[in-house]
Amino acid sequence: MGNKILITGGAGFIGSHLVRQFVNKYTDYKIFNLDKLTYAGNLENLKDVESKSNYQFIKGDINDAEFINDLFLKYQFDGVIHLAAESHVDRSILEPLAFIHTNIIGTVNLLNAAKNIWKDHYEGKRFYHISTDEVYGSLGEEGLFLESTSYDPQSPYSASKASSDHFVRAYGNTYGLPIIISNCSNNYGPNQFPEKLIPLIISNILQNKALPIYGDGKYTRDWLWVKDHAMAIDTIYHNGANGETYNIGGFNEWKNINIVLLICDILDEKLGNPSGTSSQLITYIKDRPGHDRRYAIDASKLKSELGWVPSITFEEGIRQTIEWYLDNQQWLSNITSGEYLQYYKQQYQI
Ligand code: NAD
Ligand code: DAU
Repeated sequence: MGNKILITGGAGFIGSHLVRQFVNKYTDYKIFNLDKLTYAGNLENLKDVESKSNYQFIKGDINDAEFINDLFLKYQFDGVIHLAAESHVDRSILEPLAFIHTNIIGTVNLLNAAKNIWKDHYEGKRFYHISTDEVYGSLGEEGLFLESTSYDPQSPYSASKASSDHFVRAYGNTYGLPIIISNCSNNYGPNQFPEKLIPLIISNILQNKALPIYGDGKYTRDWLWVKDHAMAIDTIYHNGANGETYNIGGFNEWKNINIVLLICDILDEKLGNPSGTSSQLITYIKDRPGHDRRYAIDASKLKSELGWVPSITFEEGIRQTIEWYLDNQQWLSNITSGEYLQYYKQQYQI
């Protein structure tokens, strides 16, 4: 495969871990990071790689078709790993259109540019779309999502991701574009924006604020260490087969309330507070509309065909995550000013 790779959304949570992994590991590649720098994109995440000679940041919007086409013409990318997206379910409930623009039209703009520039010369080329397990909908008490599970998206976010997956497959089927898709479960780790459950709980404990739990708190997610997701993407990009879909998951299901209690215990210990201090902040609030009850991924195809398995346990990962947030409180306060405060008031009314 050629070595000029475009990573979209590389200033975000997962994207920044992926960019670091590729820049440090593949010194003979040129990694281009295209990001609009929305509220979720933060170049501080990439301070340690920004001066490397095999890395280049490009500020731009995937919704701008002409700009995207010009970019592909100029740089002649060999591969695309597409992560740029609006990624938060609650925001998609407040403002669905932004998700339709970026997640669907933005993805189609990238597909068109790849198709136009590669012009049927697909040898050594790859278009890899990063998607989510939420496209499969919600599970009951039993069962796991397989690659063959029917799509049944329930939120505006997951509907937009499902639609983008369909377009990626359609371009593979119709134009022969060398595409790959992976659908991953919930990620956690350093640099995650504190609108998502785990960093929100850590951040609120540090500020002695209420810990908002939607509904009965018994909703279940399958959590994966973000660096393990980056490693899975690396494996799939290099060794996956064209046209294939791979599920990625942590084999690690937790009910929300149990994760929150675990974080409370670890932070009480680390902050030197009596056990039970942080959990007093737990506040049950109105449920998320259309809240999916349970996600759980069967990642055995990725394990048996490509040999990927998660590298660390959740207990280890959550400790490392909490330590990272404790050591990077300036990072937190830089991004939780401005627009985020407005969103927080609208979402939680507290
Ligand atoms: P994030 O919100 O942290 O980052 C998204 C990035 O995309 C930001 O840097 C943002 O600036 C950029 N971006 C947004 N709109 C853009 C546009 N129009 N043009 C260019 N850049 C734009 O998201 P994340 O959690 O890192 O998720 C990355 C991808 O992985 C998404 O596609 C998401 O659907 C998928 N995913 C996320 C998870 C998870 O648990 N976070 C799990 C599975 C899949
Ligand atoms: O499954 C993969 C998906 O995981 C990704 O595609 C999404 O981009 C990512 O945001 C994540 O979606 P979730 O909706 O599962 O993540 P979130 O962190 O928003 O919520 C996790 C669970 O915690 C969910 O059941 C809702 C609940 N929750 C969340 C927040 C923000 C609360 O109870 N209180 C909260 O304040």
